[in-house]
Amino acid sequence: QPARAMDLGEEESGAPGEEQRRWEEARLGAASLKFGARDAASQKPKYQLVLEEEETIEFVRATQLQGDEEPSGPPPPTQAQQKESIQAVRRSLPVFPFREELLAAIANHQVLIIEGETGSGKTTQIPQYLFEEGYTKKGMKIACTQPRRVAAMSVAARVAREMGVKLGNEVGYSIRFEDCTSERTVLRYMTDGMLLREFLSEPDLASYSVVMVDEAHERTLHTDILFGLIKDVARFRPELKVLVASATLDTARFSTFFDDAPVFRIPGRRFPVDIFYTKAPEADYLEACVVSVLQIHVTQPPGDILVFLTGQEEIEAACEMLQDRCRRLGSKIRELLVLPIYANLPSDMQARIFQPTPPGARKVVVATNIAETSLTIEGIIYVLDPGFCKQKSYNPRTGMESLTVTPCSKASANQRAGRAGRVAAGKCFRLYTAWAYQHELEETTVPEIQRTSLGNVVLLLKSLGIHDLMHFDFLDPPPYETLLLALEQLYALGALNHLGELTTSGRKMAELPVDPMLSKMILASEKYSCSEEILTVAAMLSVNNSIFYRPKDKVVHADNARVNFFLPGGDHLVLLNVYTQWAESGYSSQWCYENFVQFRSMRRARDVREQLEGLLERVEVGLSSCQGDYIRVRKAITAGYFYHTARLTRSGYRTVKQQQTVFIHPNSSLFEEQPRWLLYHELVLTTKEFMRQVLEIESSWLLEVAPHYYKAKELEDPHSKKMPKKIGKTREELG
Ligand code: CDP
Ligand code: MG
Repeated sequence: QPARAMDLGEEESGAPGEEQRRWEEARLGAASLKFGARDAASQKPKYQLVLEEEETIEFVRATQLQGDEEPSGPPPPTQAQQKESIQAVRRSLPVFPFREELLAAIANHQVLIIEGETGSGKTTQIPQYLFEEGYTKKGMKIACTQPRRVAAMSVAARVAREMGVKLGNEVGYSIRFEDCTSERTVLRYMTDGMLLREFLSEPDLASYSVVMVDEAHERTLHTDILFGLIKDVARFRPELKVLVASATLDTARFSTFFDDAPVFRIPGRRFPVDIFYTKAPEADYLEACVVSVLQIHVTQPPGDILVFLTGQEEIEAACEMLQDRCRRLGSKIRELLVLPIYANLPSDMQARIFQPTPPGARKVVVATNIAETSLTIEGIIYVLDPGFCKQKSYNPRTGMESLTVTPCSKASANQRAGRAGRVAAGKCFRLYTAWAYQHELEETTVPEIQRTSLGNVVLLLKSLGIHDLMHFDFLDPPPYETLLLALEQLYALGALNHLGELTTSGRKMAELPVDPMLSKMILASEKYSCSEEILTVAAMLSVNNSIFYRPKDKVVHADNARVNFFLPGGDHLVLLNVYTQWAESGYSSQWCYENFVQFRSMRRARDVREQLEGLLERVEVGLSSCQGDYIRVRKAITAGYFYHTARLTRSGYRTVKQQQTVFIHPNSSLFEEQPRWLLYHELVLTTKEFMRQVLEIESSWLLEVAPHYYKAKELEDPHSKKMPKKIGKTREELG
């Protein structure tokens, strides 16, 4: 009796022994099953699994994402087709037949909402059409915003190639700390945050003829703020064209927001995707991913695999595990190319995911959410979705922001599944149960504006002269408490006065393209005469968490190398130490290699540092060095981060103001030290609320740098004499 596929919501048939049935039988039986026609399930599995018995995961087919193309459809593109001229590829995109109609609609309406399936050519084609149509005459520019840096870079590179120009000439991109544009650049792909900053220098966007807010459905904080600002600019610049492009979600809301702007629909090309769920929840989704990828590889017909994970660390771990197992399996399996893609991946590595898979091999792309809608990778037939993403969350009551791995929304899960049906009928394997999908996933993702701190944005809006934030035209307003807290924080940082007006210091803070606390720290380095060191700390903090690497086979060496950088005082000084030694080595890559330091991260830190240094003059901070007096560096950091402080109590660390329980991250140089007072750069919620990048401080400094915020009384320590030396587990105990 072959495996039975389940329709969503039905009970399992429960035949005895069914649990033991191997995954590939269930799946293959199920896979050949058309919706509503179960007889096909009696087919024998055609593929042999070469993995060990226990390394399988059982999936059941449950639903199908309906496509508009026949399930059989054309086969995946062959090598020959992929080599077709780039212009032929352009003409084959779903948006192409609508070129004239679209241009006419743009000509006739100031604001147009454009809805189209991911991969239909919105991002790469529409700006080119506008360019061809003459929208960039008289030196006018076209902006196209992307929520993610990687997308801006890779899309610009693609478009430059399609237009046969050098990247940075007619087509360029601009992301924070990296500007690949020139005087000649008329098509500017940029992050939404960068366009937001453009308002500071050009409040009416006068040099732009078209602004395309792309990936609008992502609803990032910056995109949401752009909506309000652009709507306003459009009112007094009738010749400005505004395009809001989105995947097939939420377009009616955008239309309503922009005074009932028309919606232009690009019909998609979508093949059906069979969706499979696991029978039981998976305890370790990373391990489950690796096993499932190999299962797909050995049992499924050709077609590339796309895996969704939540971030760089996880992706690197998964890739390493996959490569490891492939090596062990050796010639027992066909070649499997394992390619990561995440925000900090260097661009040459990013480009690799778009290269065609060599014949006989299979490609597996292990990606963050970026591959959900921003990037389209040709040839994907299988999607593996553990159902998680990394999300910021914010508690306006405590002012604590944290990054958490959370279940993705249903909308997100369906976007992910859809990625499998672009070139042919595909399959999506969800590493959770059908029950979990129905009962545990939210319908849609909450817009970022409702789950993040707003300090940055409020400072920017204030610098743009927008004072009444409560009545700003938000698509979805942020929680009132969050706005209030942002104002309070900016007041505490000295960026706003008691009337809520921007101060001189606030104006300077807005000039620096970093968070208010970081800008404050940089400004404070003037007072403590240590701007050289603070610039380094700031640069190192912005490449965050990817400084050290720890190869599996050299864990001991790597850990020793890291510990060798430790300096008393804490992690910020460790970062400073790493950078200083690297600079002394002549910025050597060999030095990085020997010290288990990531060369690319360091190179990026150097770029960031140079850019920040270039801005110092604008904010009237002179270059100075502390000459080894690290107390000054620590005080300057405290001047920016006095909001993020914790003290050691009898029951572990508590944040000073809100009395929240927090823990030092095991990777911190202070993990065993457990100083009484400390500040942290950020909180990350994994198994606990971990403070990342912590610095030992003295409570008296808080009174020195923020007398308006702290009272001497709340910094008293009643148990100071009797504090146990160590609280919490040591690194060894944690394993
Ligand atoms: O924006 P939308 O999702 O509608 O589509 P797009 O990003 O403009 O992608 C159109 C086509 O360009 C897809 O077939 C992509 O595979 C291709 N593309 C590419 O080959 N390399 C890139 N860096 C970006 C897009
Ligand atoms: Mg796009």
